[in-house]
Amino acid sequence: KLKLDEHTPNREISDLLIGAFFEDINYAADGGLYAELIQNRGFEYTSMDRKEWNSLTAWSTTHDGAVLTIDTVSPIHQNNQHYVTMNVKNGTGIVNEGFGGIAIKKGEQYKFSVYSRAKSAQLGQLLIRLVDREGNTIAENRTKKLSKKWQQYTSEMRANATVSDARLVITYSQDGAVDLDMVSLFPKNTFRNRENGLRADLATTIADMKPRFVRFPGGCVAHGDGIENIYHWKNTIGPVEQRKPQRNLWGYHQSFGLGYFEYFQFCADLGAEPVPVVAAGVPCQNSAHHGHQLGGQQCGIPMEEMGDYVQDILDLIEYANGSVHTVWGKKRADAGHPAPFNLKYIGIGNEDLITDIFKERFTMINKAVKEKYPHIEVIGTAGPFYEGSDYVEGWDLATKLEVPLIDEHYYNPPGWFIHNQDFYDRYDRSKSKVYLGEYAAHLPDRASTIETALAEALHLCNVERNADIVTMTSYAPLLAKEGHTQWSPDLIYFNNTTVKPTVGYYIQQAFGQHAGQTYLFSDLQLANPDEAINKRLGKSIVRDAKSGDIIVKLVNLLPVEVDLELDLSTIGIHKQQVKATVISGKPTDRTVQPVATTIELDRCKLSPYSFTVFRIPAHN
Ligand code: AHR
Repeated sequence: KLKLDEHTPNREISDLLIGAFFEDINYAADGGLYAELIQNRGFEYTSMDRKEWNSLTAWSTTHDGAVLTIDTVSPIHQNNQHYVTMNVKNGTGIVNEGFGGIAIKKGEQYKFSVYSRAKSAQLGQLLIRLVDREGNTIAENRTKKLSKKWQQYTSEMRANATVSDARLVITYSQDGAVDLDMVSLFPKNTFRNRENGLRADLATTIADMKPRFVRFPGGCVAHGDGIENIYHWKNTIGPVEQRKPQRNLWGYHQSFGLGYFEYFQFCADLGAEPVPVVAAGVPCQNSAHHGHQLGGQQCGIPMEEMGDYVQDILDLIEYANGSVHTVWGKKRADAGHPAPFNLKYIGIGNEDLITDIFKERFTMINKAVKEKYPHIEVIGTAGPFYEGSDYVEGWDLATKLEVPLIDEHYYNPPGWFIHNQDFYDRYDRSKSKVYLGEYAAHLPDRASTIETALAEALHLCNVERNADIVTMTSYAPLLAKEGHTQWSPDLIYFNNTTVKPTVGYYIQQAFGQHAGQTYLFSDLQLANPDEAINKRLGKSIVRDAKSGDIIVKLVNLLPVEVDLELDLSTIGIHKQQVKATVISGKPTDRTVQPVATTIELDRCKLSPYSFTVFRIPAHN
């Protein structure tokens, strides 16, 4: 029997409890959420990104008659130095294979653009074609006549077939040389139809979770694996051809086409708070978790350069919130968003070792932000989690500096979540609030299964009870491209054509869609009061402030069905039938769909290995 506990006062639940963590890992940005279909569009890939890569990676020629050379003389912008010169005759040209093929849908429109400069005696036009593996044309168009100066050319094409692995072919109507750079192809249909936008299917799947905030751009990507690899937000804004690409520490390339403006815009489109995370002036964490040992040396941005670095962080806040009359606010307006993005939170540091080097730099940044922007809440980092660490150093620093929020990360086996249900009940309420920024249950194969997802659901029920102190949560990385995954677990897997939410995704979605603002304490009275059984049952009862609905979440991690009588009579709810959503299966199942069902409040039947959520409408 599950009964409300009238003696324990209700608790307020933070409005931001369920969020999302986007890291550019697993091809989450280029080749992923960023809808650009051309790989290495700026010819900026290098062997620094990946040993076998160079400026012509993903590019080839149509026939032997075409010669491609990479040049850097008078580029379109100093941040984008490489371009290709294609020397062609008799209709030969250049081919891009996309990110493992270009997925094209029949009837859809595609927006092509390129910077080009003709060097041929006779000026000609570029012919743009999308072709399938047999060479059949799926879409085509041509530019106007080229000029001898760099100029951008755009054209639109409609596809006449659906092909998962098309290629882009560009030929020239004259014999001779022509320079090309920033060769780009976007589906016209992006999420909310934004220019330079996001893949609609992936972004919609994220939106369906109803995340209250998005943390970006990492993870380790935010602080990088060396001083030169720190993520600098200023390199990622402005016209895309002027952004400064960078090696991604996860073994690929960041074009920064998806940059800070697009992250802020995405958050605005989701109705989610933006939570940027910047490096705390410390790139290298000697965390065994990642193996980024860097010869065991600890390093940080030299103190004489920290003033500039701190200013960059203050400028970021101005970029997000400043009026159009400020230097950085104007740049936001120039990008198409004169209204402020209303930034309220900023993460400083990601899972860094809390060394003296870290403390000195974090303290400096924290002080500067607090002085100039007292209303911005700084999120500190608890440091890497390992059994027994208890994050002591990170917490000590946060307590000393009175940092409002502290970011904790942990990836543990399901048993840890089952046996640590009082993890946050034990936290000191007088200290910083917790942002649980990354977590997941995992088994050795690190796949999301019914068993791991139910352990996460159990944890979230316990977090809801402790939402007076845990005010924000976000799961492990949001996205992972099949065949390009450096880290698991992740929330949503995908390839060029298909989105594959995990079991864990549906749990996050259920908590996001059924968040409440008040936690109602309850007692679970078991016929068999065995502790092992008790620990495998989870429950959370919350009230939605807006609708007044009572929301009930129930977890059954037992291999047997459980009969449950739900007694809510003390708040005037009597027995009735309600609509419920159930996620269940065998513990090892990796693909499930939530199922709609009905439940009798006084006779709930919880399937073996299941999660159940239902709302009891306020008018009852
Ligand atoms: O989520 C993948 C990595 O795991 C993140 O970059 C880091 O924050 C964590 O350790």
